[in-house]
Amino acid sequence: MAVALLVAAGSGERLGAGRPKAFVVLAGRPMVEWSLDALRAAGIQDIVVALPEGAEPPAGCLGVRGGVTRSASVRAALAAAPAAEHVVVHDAARPLVTPEHFEAALEALGHADCAIAAAPMTDTVKEAGPDHRVVATLDRSRLWAIQTPQAFRRAALERALEVDDALLAQATDDAWLVERAGGTVRVVESTPANLKVTTPFDLRLAEHLLADRLPRPSTP
Ligand code: CTP
Ligand code: MG
Repeated sequence: MAVALLVAAGSGERLGAGRPKAFVVLAGRPMVEWSLDALRAAGIQDIVVALPEGAEPPAGCLGVRGGVTRSASVRAALAAAPAAEHVVVHDAARPLVTPEHFEAALEALGHADCAIAAAPMTDTVKEAGPDHRVVATLDRSRLWAIQTPQAFRRAALERALEVDDALLAQATDDAWLVERAGGTVRVVESTPANLKVTTPFDLRLAEHLLADRLPRPSTP
């Protein structure tokens, strides 16, 4: 059995929509609802949502107040989650997630403490100094752009989150905390379509992609 932690407590500063990003209307509904649909279609019913101050939990979900950082929101949601062997963490900012993403990540837990959705890099990646001078070109064939969902054996995630707030604030994903704690992490191949809405450009892109999923009005 798996429980889901949906983190939706961010302020959405870079989007600049004047309200928390997860509640910005996207293709006709609050962004967070798209991820909830995919979770339920994957058969995951126990969902804890980390929320910004003043937000009501979506119907059928348990709501908790989010933390100061993303990983603090994950920790708060996990503390409120009902018993389950497996936990799947997802960013409400990735509304294009599909049920298959959740299923594949959970299935890969048979071989690891943590399994994370990831897209093979298509851009060449270089490392440069503060003066913009390139110091290295990385081997793209081994590089992955990391997304959510990220699935965990619950005990591994609990152990990984037992760190002080300063370290928690450094984590851009929870899998890194598992890596640090000596756990095994595997990538599960995803596609760039599972994009994260960060900027107004991303919102427009997500709007187009989600509009394609809506049933079209039939022509007489
Ligand atoms: N998040 C959260 N609690 C925080 C910060 C972020 O639950 N304290 C969530 C966001 O709601 C989002 C996901 O983590 O679903 C990824 O974070 P990000 O894309 O950075 O969203 P925001 O923090 O809202 O955006 P910004 O950084 O531009 O303010
Ligand atoms: Mg943020």
